[in-house]
Amino acid sequence: MTRPAVISRLLSGLPLIAPSMLKCDFANLHREVELLELAGAKLLHLDVMDGHFVPNLSYGAPVIKSLRAITGLPFDAHLMISDPGRYLDDFLNAGCDILTIHIEAVPQPGELLRRIRERGACAGLALNPKTPAEAILPYIADCDLVLVMSVEPGFGGQRFIPTALDKLRILASYAGKDRVLSVDGGIDLQTIGAAAQAGATEFVCGSSIFDLPDYRQAIDNLLTAAGNAAVSAISE
Ligand code: DX5
Ligand code: ZN
Repeated sequence: MTRPAVISRLLSGLPLIAPSMLKCDFANLHREVELLELAGAKLLHLDVMDGHFVPNLSYGAPVIKSLRAITGLPFDAHLMISDPGRYLDDFLNAGCDILTIHIEAVPQPGELLRRIRERGACAGLALNPKTPAEAILPYIADCDLVLVMSVEPGFGGQRFIPTALDKLRILASYAGKDRVLSVDGGIDLQTIGAAAQAGATEFVCGSSIFDLPDYRQAIDNLLTAAGNAAVSAISE
């Protein structure tokens, strides 16, 4: 898909639940993707870890390329890697639609974000819990997606860090209506409402989908909670 097609598809479908494929059953990846499609997932969040930027390893471009062959869902690759520029073409050639890089890995990410867009993909910029929201403001014009980490990156199943809410509130006004404002880490039925009220429009969910037996029920409940909170925030 082209960048305009992907971004307009995502923006027209807000709020979005993005299943994080870190917690899926890797022995049954094909089945997991089928179940997520049946459950109404609108995109997949693919966590790429290099054991250097974060203290964990996951999967890389070859696995994403295999997934590309079995689904038309947009792929958002969350690159938790120290040198994303080096592997950019690999991830784009593997069929990623959005590449999200970390500002802690690339402190001056403008050129890389523009390179991603020039290749026809959407550009995302992520920030860790200890990084202030202001750090990414100079680059927001080069972004299609901003991702606020609400846990230290590297592992699923951690507790939501509430200071992410302040960052979402700040970034929501700058992100505007043309960008996706994503929150990643510890999002479940207890935390999604506050994140939605703070302005998040996309919710990355690992444990709160994959730990439950019925993915459709999990996604529907998360969407309802996010939608209700966003509506009450508007009417306040
Ligand atoms: C953490 C990853 C997340 C994580 C989310 O580094 O970026 O996408 O898998 O998992 P939960 O929803 O379990 O916090
Ligand atoms: Zn992630």
